[in-house]
Amino acid sequence: MRILVFILLFPFSVFAQVITTDFKSARLQAGVQNNQFVYQVSFQGKQVIAPSTLGFDLVKPALSLDSFELIQVDSSISNSVWRPVWGEEDEIYDFHKKVVYHLKTIAKPSVLLDIEFRLAKEGAAFRYLFPKQENLQHFIVKDEKSTFHLAENAMAFWIPGDYDTNEYLYNTTRLSEVDALKAAAQEKDIAVTALVDAKTIQVPLMLKSDRGLYVNIHEAALIGYPAMLLSLNKNDYSLTSHLVPDAVGNKAYLETGFSTPWRVINVAMKAKDILASRFILNLNEPTKLVKTDWIKPQKYMGVWWEMHIGKGTWQMTGGKHAATTENTKKYIDFAAKHGFDGVLVEGWNKGWEDWFGNWKEEVFDFVSPYPDYGLNELKEYAKAKGVKLIMHHETSGAVTNYERRMDKAFQFMKDNEINTVKTGYVGKIIPRGEHHDSQWMVNHYQRVAEKAATYGIMVDAHEPVHPTGLHRTFPNWMSNEAARGTEFNNAPTLGIVPEHQTILPFTRLMGGPMDYTPGLFHFELNQFEKDRKQKVLSTLAKQLALYITIYSPLHMAADLPENYEKHMDAFQFIKDVPVNWSETVVVDAEPGDFVVIARREKNKGNWYVGGITDEQARKLSIPLNFLKPNKKYQAILYKDGADAHYASNPASYQITKQVVDASTNLLVDLAAGGGIAIQILEL
Ligand code: NOJ
Ligand code: CA
Repeated sequence: MRILVFILLFPFSVFAQVITTDFKSARLQAGVQNNQFVYQVSFQGKQVIAPSTLGFDLVKPALSLDSFELIQVDSSISNSVWRPVWGEEDEIYDFHKKVVYHLKTIAKPSVLLDIEFRLAKEGAAFRYLFPKQENLQHFIVKDEKSTFHLAENAMAFWIPGDYDTNEYLYNTTRLSEVDALKAAAQEKDIAVTALVDAKTIQVPLMLKSDRGLYVNIHEAALIGYPAMLLSLNKNDYSLTSHLVPDAVGNKAYLETGFSTPWRVINVAMKAKDILASRFILNLNEPTKLVKTDWIKPQKYMGVWWEMHIGKGTWQMTGGKHAATTENTKKYIDFAAKHGFDGVLVEGWNKGWEDWFGNWKEEVFDFVSPYPDYGLNELKEYAKAKGVKLIMHHETSGAVTNYERRMDKAFQFMKDNEINTVKTGYVGKIIPRGEHHDSQWMVNHYQRVAEKAATYGIMVDAHEPVHPTGLHRTFPNWMSNEAARGTEFNNAPTLGIVPEHQTILPFTRLMGGPMDYTPGLFHFELNQFEKDRKQKVLSTLAKQLALYITIYSPLHMAADLPENYEKHMDAFQFIKDVPVNWSETVVVDAEPGDFVVIARREKNKGNWYVGGITDEQARKLSIPLNFLKPNKKYQAILYKDGADAHYASNPASYQITKQVVDASTNLLVDLAAGGGIAIQILEL
């Protein structure tokens, strides 16, 4: 449908050209008012975004794109279904209405700018398109001026705005209490930070209003552009986009014919519907990869946690090198025996003696194993046992070095029949002055994913920019860290508090899978170094539940084989849990309190349920109405022991069995900091 806007007789008049669009529960009112582009969004009749302006400031040409004339509005409806290469369900429905506002700046020479909205049952999103045009070709962005006027002092689940990291612990406060600098001052264990100011916070931002609305603000399809942070104005509770700058303070170098990432406002009346939303995936482009059968979800173990807790070291010198041929064989044996797909080996390559903190460019070459790591022998050994080695490329932030060596590094992997790489970006970025989340780095992560695909390699990135649903477009870019994961159990200052994993699905995970590396079975981290005080603040059953509540097509069993050997009955759940799904049902959830998710194994009838709680013990009622009617199932429940507690008795668990069907309502007790994992097998 094409609505031709009446030609304005007085182009500078205050004549309002606002158009209302309703789709599902969402209402968008947007257009030009007093020469500004203004939009507002409501959901089920409740205001979500009060009138808010959109626009841009450019450095070159030095222009403010903030006063517009509306030329034309197009709209259309689209209804489709698509099948992800892997994921939380077989099919994803995408029913939306698109409304495009074609604008022209009033100031001369006039610039053409389109703003495209999408309305879906999950909320609203918009992006900017700079069409090819006569008066503008190359341009440099000073600021994107997208505002989200919340007009309400909502509860917020937030982390400080930072150009280099998302590894903070979440804060739960009213917007009026947001103080990013104060929150960050308590953090001592994040390798590299670049904070903005007290009022700037990260996306995905989760909000809970007193009017019963759950609102999540994030971005989708972050391509060719810096990451977006949000700057809060406490006078009117509005948020304004804040883009990550580059080394000279500019935000983005663009050419017309470009569309920005989507700014996404997910809205729901129930918290669980935020988690069920696939809006962000739908806003990403389908993959261009024709052949995808080499891309496989995987469960893996690794020569990894033992370095974090001081049993071994990454570097060879010092006598405690963990990535030896012999030790790696031990992991391969254990992984093979228990049906794992892969074994990650960190510290396999030369360079770890001097890898961090010097901002130096030449660190690793990604092709030189330490002499005590027999890669050839291990390659054959792993192959004979049916396990794949997983490569580790820690760049230490020297990204120019990685870019120069990437082809050789990927070819080296191919030669050694390794088809998955965990990348890492611990350290200040080189090119010096760039940030982990600036435009140059956003382009880098994409280059890695695209190049890896040409070698048939799957990628798991640690310390990258926040994910934005790009796993639809680049399905070999399988998982990311980009948040506080298991390694922080070992961080001396704040560690991981029990509510953390109940907030992650509402924040970081909105953009895509997380390589959280769950599965710790040993809770006192002084196992090898007696003076360590750190503890894992979780029960054992909760560690199992995380395989379900944290979605990832790559899941690690993070602990050491000897720690699993002490609890083989509980380890059975980790052995059995799938990493690819045909169906997902979010049973119930509340950010910061609890999360219960059920998933059906890919192409099978078996279900797996994970439930987790914060520091509060909790009774959960889990109706199994997602099961097939008139069918019996055997449920195996991995529960907290009656005396379990995350701080005082984390390893207490019990395993029970019962026959269930679709009419069963399981009533279960979760300990403080606890969880439940359930396997439901067809009978
Ligand atoms: C940080 C990563 O998150 C962690 O998994 C890895 O072991 C270290 N960097 C060393 O690369
Ligand atoms: Ca990390």
